[in-house]
Amino acid sequence: MRVRADLNISLDGFATTTDQEPGEPFGKDWFRLVDAYTATRTFRSRVLGDTSGAGTTDVDDEYAAAYFEGIGAEIMGAGMFGLHHYPDDPDWRGWWGDNPPFHCPVFVLTHTPHPTLEMEGDNVFHFISATPEEALALAAAEAGDLDVRIGGGPTVVREFLRAGLIDQLHVAIAPLILGDGIRLWDDLRGLELNYKVTTQSAASGTTHVTFSRAAADEAGSAREPWRPVGNTL
Ligand SMILES: NC(=O)c1ccc[n+]([C@@H]2O[C@H](COP(=O)([O-])OP(=O)(O)OC[C@H]3O[C@@H](n4cnc5c(N)ncnc54)[C@H](OP(=O)(O)O)[C@@H]3O)[C@@H](O)[C@H]2O)c1
Repeated sequence: MRVRADLNISLDGFATTTDQEPGEPFGKDWFRLVDAYTATRTFRSRVLGDTSGAGTTDVDDEYAAAYFEGIGAEIMGAGMFGLHHYPDDPDWRGWWGDNPPFHCPVFVLTHTPHPTLEMEGDNVFHFISATPEEALALAAAEAGDLDVRIGGGPTVVREFLRAGLIDQLHVAIAPLILGDGIRLWDDLRGLELNYKVTTQSAASGTTHVTFSRAAADEAGSAREPWRPVGNTL
């Protein structure tokens, strides 16, 4: 069982803007940020239910397909689920329609109690207040031999990175500048020292960067678990 995370980020490291409004719930630049991913054949079929075969099939699609492979449980933040945008709507069921693309137990981290949601396609959303370690223990028990994905958003992924709990992090860096928002890398100086880092470019202009702990172990270059280095590096 591995703990994986995949995020789309801008060149300046932001995984989301904070300019969402009721009429624009993802913010002005969201679709530019995730353009290469949402253009893939995998996204179109797995998320939009488009079985026409439309969509890109190159490097971006290989990463998109890998994203969906072998996940037995998901952990996400209240922000990704949309609770912060719809705090007073008891019927809010997320962004993904009646049959969300997770198809596994999903643990939503929030300090606000919320009843469990059961949806089509084996999607069960549990709302929990827990440390990253506690949340991972719950998710791992559900995932069995499959992987646990830390789905996002950046606040939660950073929390798990800081706790040293993520084995593989893939970031798809879109060639655009957001200038503001929530940045993935803040307070993670020296993170790369714990991982083998590989990079691949796609025709879309996206740079795929993968931080892999297993690969670092195999190469004999694994280092001490990540800890804040502050100004001492
Ligand atoms: N770029 C990408 O690939 C990507 C992927 C996924 C999502 N996103 C975007 O990211 C945005 C959301 O990200 P975000 O960073 O604002 O929020 P987030 O990471 O989704 O959620 C953060 C929230 O989760 C709750 N939380 C976090 N740790 C907790 C813990 N240990 N125990 C209990 N609750 C905990 C808190 O909410 P409470 O106040 O409820 O306690 C916290 O404010 C959305 O706009 C989404 O579209 C981007």
